[in-house]
Amino acid sequence: MIEERARPKILITGRLPDEVLYTLKQRFEVEANLEDRPMDRERVLQAMADKEGFVSLVGDSIDIELLDSAPRLRMIAQMAVGYDNVDLAAATARGIPVSNTPDVLTDATADLTFALILALSRRIVELDGRVRRGEFKFWAPMLFLGRDVTGKTLGIVGFGRIGQAVAQRAKGFRMRVLYSDPHKIDTVHEQELNAGYVDLGRLLHEADFVCVHVSLSEETRHLIGKAELALMKPMAYLINAARGPVVDEKALVEALRSGSIAGAGLDVYENEPSLEQGLVELENVVLLPHVGSATLETRVKMASLAAENLRAGLEGGVPPNLLNPEVLPHRRT
Ligand code: GLV
Repeated sequence: MIEERARPKILITGRLPDEVLYTLKQRFEVEANLEDRPMDRERVLQAMADKEGFVSLVGDSIDIELLDSAPRLRMIAQMAVGYDNVDLAAATARGIPVSNTPDVLTDATADLTFALILALSRRIVELDGRVRRGEFKFWAPMLFLGRDVTGKTLGIVGFGRIGQAVAQRAKGFRMRVLYSDPHKIDTVHEQELNAGYVDLGRLLHEADFVCVHVSLSEETRHLIGKAELALMKPMAYLINAARGPVVDEKALVEALRSGSIAGAGLDVYENEPSLEQGLVELENVVLLPHVGSATLETRVKMASLAAENLRAGLEGGVPPNLLNPEVLPHRRT
């Protein structure tokens, strides 16, 4: 008689699209949070005791405490491109592969960046409020004016997949694109994207819109601080749809208050979901609740990709988006 092997137990800390949850339940014994709110940390730690797989979300802190509470864990599939919430070195040291979900959210995040650029420059949120409050009483030449986007200079800080997708969109607005990044891309590609490589100082000095697309690391924490904000033009806007701590939020509130920059569009915050004191009182900001990848189509793709990575990892294969390949020779079985 062939003995049936118990299905691996997995934890999912937030509600996933039904079809992806269904697929996961076919292969695994699933414990899932079915609510659109984070799972309580204590519950996560307890649940980890017998789990072999983990579909993690940006709000999950995968630190040493969590890893030490998970003696059987052999795959972490993060449903996000960013993974600054995961102690990758500690996972690797314990023989646990970790994956993320790149590419599938590039377009949605680049679209959202442009939504913020347009919302700021054309005062979309503010003017919507004015119309609702009955303030649209007549048309006048100098009323409700914003600023042009077409033909302006866009500075892209961090020229990876998402930064380049933003540059692609900027072509439609005939913008001049400057980018800064540790790596210069090849000239042919630069020409295709109509993008010029400059240092961060020059980018901040020349751009009408500065958008941030770097991942969060010790090198990029507070990459945009007081000194950098001071280099921006008084008519320039800052857009951050990457990670909050890349921008020093206190310094940003100060710059917005004093008018040393024109405005900011934020999708992420330094101490998410808390906001820096004074931010909500400002009129020259557009604030979103970390929704860069939040379209139904994209979230289905992200969840499916996380599921594919999880499955590969738990079934002895190589997850397609493995972040720590050095783990493979000594991974937990
Ligand atoms: C979302 O913030 C992500 O990193 O995918």
